[in-house]
Amino acid sequence: MRKSLVALAAAGLLASGMLTACDDGADPGDNGDNGAATTPGKTSGKGGIGVILPDTKSSQRWSTDDPRYLQAAFDAAKVPAQIVNAEGDKENFKRLAEGLLDDGVKVLVIANLDSGSGKAVIDNAKARGVSVIDYDRMTLNGGADYYVSFDNEQVGKLQATHLKSCLKAKKTSGTPVVAELNGSLTDNNATLFKNGYDSVLQPMYDSAQYIKGPDQFVPDWDNDEGREIFAQMLKQFPNIDGVLAANDGLGNAVIEVLKEKKLNGRVPVTGQDATVEGLQNILAGDQCMTVYKSIKKEADAAATLAIELYKGNKPVVGPKIKDPESGAYVPFLSQAPVAITVKNIKTVINDGFVTKQALCTKEYQQLCREAGIK
Ligand code: BGC
Repeated sequence: MRKSLVALAAAGLLASGMLTACDDGADPGDNGDNGAATTPGKTSGKGGIGVILPDTKSSQRWSTDDPRYLQAAFDAAKVPAQIVNAEGDKENFKRLAEGLLDDGVKVLVIANLDSGSGKAVIDNAKARGVSVIDYDRMTLNGGADYYVSFDNEQVGKLQATHLKSCLKAKKTSGTPVVAELNGSLTDNNATLFKNGYDSVLQPMYDSAQYIKGPDQFVPDWDNDEGREIFAQMLKQFPNIDGVLAANDGLGNAVIEVLKEKKLNGRVPVTGQDATVEGLQNILAGDQCMTVYKSIKKEADAAATLAIELYKGNKPVVGPKIKDPESGAYVPFLSQAPVAITVKNIKTVINDGFVTKQALCTKEYQQLCREAGIK
């Protein structure tokens, strides 16, 4: 119990008063699989913590940041973990879960591909007495034991607020036409981001300060499809003045289309995830902003919860968030997103999220210097 409290405090969760540990009497680590003897991070063959990430294409984070920070947290706690990726395939997602459960994982951490397949996995886990943490994306009507994410409406608000500033700075003549390229309808986060940005943009449309342009969801956050959708949008509305793109991948798809028309840099585009590509687009003046979500904080929070559950504790987390479909209240650990523009781009380097080498490649060295990255 003492150990668990130390771990929670280390993750900054106790200090924030969001999480307390409840010992249910089980011996820490006594899960019957002798986890302590297992090499950290190596597949144990039985037991441990299983993590399923959604894909490797919709955002850089799923193949690099999330696995790296989650693995580090499990390694530090010497808890065996298997981190796998469904590569965008819902059947594969379910198969991977089946495999991990057959392996005897004690806890499952999932970032779903859609709520239907997510729920099937949660039902399967529950039938075997395994706790589930929804990671980053809530499985609607899923019934996970915990949800760890960001304030996703705030992500959208930051995007729209900065798009407004960028449009103002561009001094577009006439009333700006704003297009929205949303994430995947199957991802509850995409809905929350949109709720957030529309709460800022709708009043602008209503008061005729902006003209509402095309507004479309991109299936599976697919960047190639995003490019095609935006190319169509621009064909129909050649006078688009600003684009609310839901993440850096979609933002880059938009920028590629704008580049073909030599419109890049003139039409502000938003993003999310502080990917190297998104940050370089900001340095080049092609992208207005991105949203930095500290994946380390999110991964640490999820790993800390998972480790407590693995040890047989039942962490008490507050506040709770309502699952809009089932009406159930799910214990929720939330982190704050940060808007990044060229002015504070250094933040992501200072935070160790992106290295200077990765960002300031030859082509971007001068722009990095101008942005104050030493
Ligand atoms: C995540 C974003 C990511 C998007 C596409 C969302 O659920 O919150 O960080 O860009 O999925 O993978």
